[in-house]
Amino acid sequence: MNAQPSSAPAILGYTYATPDAARSPLTLDDLDRLKQAVGLTPEDEPYRRMAGEVLADQAEDMVTAWRAQLAEHPHLAIYSATPDGHPNPDYSAASKPRFVRWVIDACTRPFDQAWLDYQHEIGLRHTRDKKNVTDHAKSTDHIPMRYLLAFTAVVLVTARDYLARHGHSADDIDKMHAAWTKAVMLHVTVWTQPYVALENW
Ligand code: HEM
Repeated sequence: MNAQPSSAPAILGYTYATPDAARSPLTLDDLDRLKQAVGLTPEDEPYRRMAGEVLADQAEDMVTAWRAQLAEHPHLAIYSATPDGHPNPDYSAASKPRFVRWVIDACTRPFDQAWLDYQHEIGLRHTRDKKNVTDHAKSTDHIPMRYLLAFTAVVLVTARDYLARHGHSADDIDKMHAAWTKAVMLHVTVWTQPYVALENW
């Protein structure tokens, strides 16, 4: 599978389905068990796709809003700042297109080996293994796992308003939001693996 459609401008550092992405230590069986744990079923699939259509033209606004929320809290803002705490607009600008692309990928990508591998890569990019490397950024070197997990609440809750903006029925909005919730939890759970010894994860 191509990393990105040929018509789209290349996203720097977006190595989905390329040999440059990390290799996940997880197996497809591990992934299947995790999907069962978050309750993702084939019935969620059409609603995950529907969410992708609804969010396609809103993904950038969502990321802007999430980042504004992170920027409001000095103890969260430091992870995008320079090591001495100054704003780092080049770093934020460089990583943003990948975050925007993630919103769409979360709704559209098949959960396969390429997915596992790129989620491992995203996890690493939040940790001292690989944070800052992709964008050659000068910044703090590690985002604590507790904030990655805690911020998931924001990513889940705020999505509902965006999902409701295209005139779908209340039932469709509920089902899109449920599919989004399960998919996001699956992603973030896999991102936590590099933080934890595999036998404890
Ligand atoms: C559910 C919570 C979160 C989601 C969905 C999320 C999503 C993402 C995504 C998709 C990327 C781009 C990965 C790529 O290179 O393809 C990214 C990078 C980044 N995120 Fe997060 N993130 C979350 C939590 C946080 C938190 C809590 C912080 C800071 C307090 C943070 C700061 C960053 C930074 C600084 C980068 C750039 C990392 C690098 O140097 O490559 N993220 N995030």
